[in-house]
Amino acid sequence: MKKFMKDLLATTMVFAMATSLVGCGGSTEPAADDAAATGETLIMATNAEFPPYEFYEGSDVVGIDAEIGAAIAEKLGMDFKIEDMAFDSIIPAVTSGKASFGMAGMTVTEDRLQSVDFSDSYATGVQVVIVKEGSDITSVDDLFAEGASHVVGVQTGTTGDIYATDDIEGDGFGTVERFPKGADAVLALTQGKIDCVVIDNEPAKEFVAANEGLVILDTEYAVEDYAICLAKGSELTEKINAALAELIADGTVQEIIDKYISAE
Ligand code: ARG
Repeated sequence: MKKFMKDLLATTMVFAMATSLVGCGGSTEPAADDAAATGETLIMATNAEFPPYEFYEGSDVVGIDAEIGAAIAEKLGMDFKIEDMAFDSIIPAVTSGKASFGMAGMTVTEDRLQSVDFSDSYATGVQVVIVKEGSDITSVDDLFAEGASHVVGVQTGTTGDIYATDDIEGDGFGTVERFPKGADAVLALTQGKIDCVVIDNEPAKEFVAANEGLVILDTEYAVEDYAICLAKGSELTEKINAALAELIADGTVQEIIDKYISAE
C-alpha cells in the first residue's frame, strides 16, 4: 500500500512537471521567439534511461537534467531540443558538433576531460552496488576480497563500467557484463544472471523500488560530480556556467531536484 501510494505520488509529480515543462517551452514566450528568429537551438544530448535525471514520460524526455537544460536554454534565449542516444554516443555527439552539450548525470573524469570541457558541477552522484536480498556480497569490500569472483553488471561506458573494469575485472576479482541500459543490468540481476550492479545512487533507488527483492549496499563505491559536457573551447561553456549559477542562486535548480527526489 505504501509503495503504491508512493508510485502514485511519483506519477502525479511527473505529470505536473511534464505539464509545466510544456508550459515553459511554449513558443509564445518572447525569448523562444527571438531565438527561433535567429535559428539558434540548444541541442542537449542525453541517454534517457536514467531516472530521475532523464527518462521517458510517454514520448517526452523528462527529469532533472531535461528541466535544468530547458531552464538554461530559456535563460540564454535559445530554443531547446533533446536528442536521446546511447550513453557512450553523447561525447562523440558533442565533439562532432551534432549536439550543443551533453547532460546525462555525467560524471566529470580526467579521461573525459581529454576530449570535452565540463561546466561547473550541478549535482553529486554516488556509485552504489545493488544486490539481491540475502546476497553474499554485503559490502563494497566483498567485491575485492581474496578469492572473490563475481559477475558485475554495468551500463556500457559509465563510470560504473570504468571502475568495475579496472578494479574487479582488471584485478582478477570477477567479470563485468555491460548492458545498453541500467535497467537491463537490473533485470539480469533479478533473473540471477549476474551478482550485482554498479550504478549511480538515484537511478539505483528507482530501480530497487520498481523491483522486488533487491537492496542497495550501505557502503559507497565512489562519490562523483555531475556536470554538463561541451566541445573543447566552446564559447557556450561560460554562458552555461553563468546561467547555471543564476539558476542555482535563485533556487530553480533545487526546486527541480526536489520535484524528482523526495527528501528522506
Ligand atoms: N554518472 C555516470 C557516468 O557519468 C553514469 C551516467 C549515466 N547516465 C545516463 N543518462 N545513462 O558515467
